[in-house]
Amino acid sequence: MAVLDDFDLFMENIYKYTNIDLTKYKRPQMQRRLTALRDKQGFKDFKSYFEALQKDQNLFHEFLDRMTINVSEFFRNPNRWEVVEKRLIPDVLKKQKKIKVWSAACSTGEEPYTLVMILNQFLPFHDIKVMASDIDEGAITRAKKGVYHQRSLQFVPPAYVNKYFKPLDNQQYAISDEVKKCVTFKRHNLLEEPFDNDFDLIVCRNVIIYFTEQAKDLLYTKFSNALKPGGVLFVGSTEQIFNPQSFRFTTYDTFFYQRV
Ligand SMILES: C[S@@+](CC[C@H](N)C(=O)[O-])C[C@H]1O[C@@H](n2cnc3c(N)ncnc32)[C@H](O)[C@@H]1O
Repeated sequence: MAVLDDFDLFMENIYKYTNIDLTKYKRPQMQRRLTALRDKQGFKDFKSYFEALQKDQNLFHEFLDRMTINVSEFFRNPNRWEVVEKRLIPDVLKKQKKIKVWSAACSTGEEPYTLVMILNQFLPFHDIKVMASDIDEGAITRAKKGVYHQRSLQFVPPAYVNKYFKPLDNQQYAISDEVKKCVTFKRHNLLEEPFDNDFDLIVCRNVIIYFTEQAKDLLYTKFSNALKPGGVLFVGSTEQIFNPQSFRFTTYDTFFYQRV
């Protein structure tokens, strides 16, 4: 049997403690990030770092923060969101009146709120429901609060800024309550928990890149099963699927995959 090193044991302990399986994330990046954090806190190995994490909530939350990477922004890669607005939603609404949407790994909420703003070009608020989930409870709390620095609004069309945001002090903006009410947030671990199904659109961007090839393949299969036939998976701009047919997908547009 292979001998487990200090980091292997740490991953095993974290899994038992949190149900987060670090072995499903690409190891070099994850180990580098967590080693830097551990060193910053003055622990000489992962064994003593794990012991401390269990006793100190601040350390534990800092660890969760570092392993999750919550960077996001509204309309991230704007020309891809044009595909959603100009092609995808009109295609769906030709066939039906409502659209079932999930923002998976939604971080601090910019992505599901982007979806609501776009959907509102076609539907009244009371017909818009977006499900949004992330593994990180802290990110979800911030998403529900809905307050953002101007920086994350750089790609929001000016007319939308006026319509859907309220300026606050210190270059902060609050998303409107009407937009907020359309989104249901929940904590959900993509790698461990079952998925809802019958989605018309699943947006899962800039998280799959962190997963091992094996974890990626499992996820694509789960996403494919969670979509309706004709439903679409929208991935990040570094996350092209090279063998879409293996997951019953055809390419709908660049970074969009349609369930056959
Ligand atoms: C870089 S953010 C992407 C946010 C947004 N989708 C975007 O593209 O702007 C990655 C998010 O993935 C979440 N995440 C990491 N592992 C996850 C898992 N196993 N299940 C669900 N979410 C996860 C992190 O908490 C983080 O909020």
